[in-house]
Amino acid sequence: MSDQKSSPVSEMYPPSAEFLARTTHTNLAEISKHAEKDLEGFWAGEAEELEWFRKWDQVLDDSNKPFYKWFVGGHTNVVHNAVDRHAITHRKNKLALIWQSEDGKTQQTFSYHALNREVNRMANIIRSMGVTKGDRVTIYMGRIPEIVFAMLACAKVGAVHSVVFGGFSIDALQNRISDSATKLVITCDGSFQNGKRINLKDITDEALKLCPTVENVIVVKRTGQDVYMEAMRDHWYHDMCVLPIANGKCPTEVMDAEDPLFILYTSGSTGKPKAIVHTHGGYMVGAYSTLKYVFDVKDEDRYWCTADPGWITGHTYLVYGPLLLGATVFFFEGGPTYPYPNRWWQLIEQFGISIFYTAPTAIRALMRFGEAWPNKHDLSSLRLLGSVGEPINPEAWSWFHKVVGKNLCPIMDTWWQTETGTFQITPMPATPLKPGSCAKPFFGQVVEIVDEKGKPVETGAEGYLVLTRPWPSMLRTLYGDDQRYVDTYWTKFPGKYFTGDSARRDKDGYIWVIGRVDDVIKVSGHRLGTAEVESALLTHPAVVESAAIGLPHEVKGQAIHCFVQLNRGFEPKDELKEDLRKHVSTHLGPIAKPDVIEFIDKLPKTRSGKIMRRLLKARAQGLPEGDLSTLDE
Ligand code: PRX
Repeated sequence: MSDQKSSPVSEMYPPSAEFLARTTHTNLAEISKHAEKDLEGFWAGEAEELEWFRKWDQVLDDSNKPFYKWFVGGHTNVVHNAVDRHAITHRKNKLALIWQSEDGKTQQTFSYHALNREVNRMANIIRSMGVTKGDRVTIYMGRIPEIVFAMLACAKVGAVHSVVFGGFSIDALQNRISDSATKLVITCDGSFQNGKRINLKDITDEALKLCPTVENVIVVKRTGQDVYMEAMRDHWYHDMCVLPIANGKCPTEVMDAEDPLFILYTSGSTGKPKAIVHTHGGYMVGAYSTLKYVFDVKDEDRYWCTADPGWITGHTYLVYGPLLLGATVFFFEGGPTYPYPNRWWQLIEQFGISIFYTAPTAIRALMRFGEAWPNKHDLSSLRLLGSVGEPINPEAWSWFHKVVGKNLCPIMDTWWQTETGTFQITPMPATPLKPGSCAKPFFGQVVEIVDEKGKPVETGAEGYLVLTRPWPSMLRTLYGDDQRYVDTYWTKFPGKYFTGDSARRDKDGYIWVIGRVDDVIKVSGHRLGTAEVESALLTHPAVVESAAIGLPHEVKGQAIHCFVQLNRGFEPKDELKEDLRKHVSTHLGPIAKPDVIEFIDKLPKTRSGKIMRRLLKARAQGLPEGDLSTLDE
């Protein structure tokens, strides 16, 4: 199993009486019991808090497992609930989005009225390009307001968005566009990252050389450099915005609850990335309900989730969840340390952020700069903190709690995945916390920790983490590959959803996630597959074969180490190592740039020809090599 250690500590951090007095949901045991006894009743109650064009006939259809359906027969559209309905109530003039540029020179704000107008304009433009219900649209942009408009505009017209993280590069983008047979791409001329410009349009042009399904490209101007515009195919967004078609009114498509809302590619252990499918109905209800309970979002809150929209956290808890709740969302273009390591603390102070949701890797990076940076700022607006993406080590937890939250703000350590769409194991504001544990399953969910045969392990023992109850925002399938969906998630432990993680449960029922048991690497919380890094290396002429593994890293959680077997005629020189690292960065993306390249004469393999990454990992860390009976010497 995983090499990551979590060290259970015994302290409990109950919320203060003062905090509890301001907390909406304190009857957790009661709600939990209700959801456990009547799963469908619980979720129907949550769904009733949202608006439907037609009510569902059946809450859950499990007649064709594992192809579960939720709110069967119901009609809705997530954008109706996230934008349209707020724009005609008391929230019309409430701020939906506050955006700040990386350099701090530009700020844009959008009320729910303005957000509705901007989404409608983009939706009209998308529709005018012949995009209709079910068509796939790839969005490849930086963190600017238009990426939010683009996602919502797609959903509004019933198109299926596929957001590709702006830190990915040519190969990753091309694979995702081709696999989804995308009709339209929405991108930018470029994006800013730590003061540098990333030329997104150039990367898009390269990727599109091999993507014949793409008919149109919309380009939003952000960085302002000259870019190539292909006649008939490429259109500046600002040029389209002045056309009569781009008016601020646009009908919202009526969607079946089970119609796909988006696909999001994520890495698995083998093969090409998996296209996770989420729906309008169940995903909407899950996003709304989980954020409502776990972050207790109130009208007066200013909510900041630091995730990029290119990942599931950005989808569910930067865009859809908070807007479904009618919240005010803060959205920042930049990262935590540019130009100085106080950037986030300064923004919390400037914008009066009350809920702050981020990742352990960022906390660890910021910790290294010391307490003086956060202490320069007034962080007293904060009420609640959140963590996601990997286990949070107790040291980072304590720093976050004490230095950022001043011992007053509970930390919601939320465990979930691209596949689950929403939180599955998480504390609530009223839960006593244990640093490093993501506490207990969300309402209605039942977790098991099992051995290789699917038998529950003893309390405190490590085992595979499985989810045993269906939930509305569960992935429905892998786009275009039902069999891989069944094989990946439902076959190892029949009837139960296999998460790919290992975990322990302590005597108080708290879950301690240890990490992935497959070949997924978590670099700074970003999920990468060894297979993707290896295929990128393979396109370099010097490489015969390679193996990528993740090794523990103090700040990033894991770092990418690659073992490379060289082609004849190539010398194992340091310059070549650097060249190979750059090659991966250019093709797959800067986030996937290997930390270390090591040349090896022959990769250790099993007799059936599978690379033994486990052995490479053990050797690299000087750990016992374990059972070598299958090794082909
Ligand atoms: O290993 C778990 C880890 O992140 C994986 C899912 O990655 P991804 O699909 O990219 O989604 C990340 C954001 C939801 C999980 O299988 N993970 C996520 N949250 C936690 C976590 N590990 C421990 N504690 C968490 N809170």
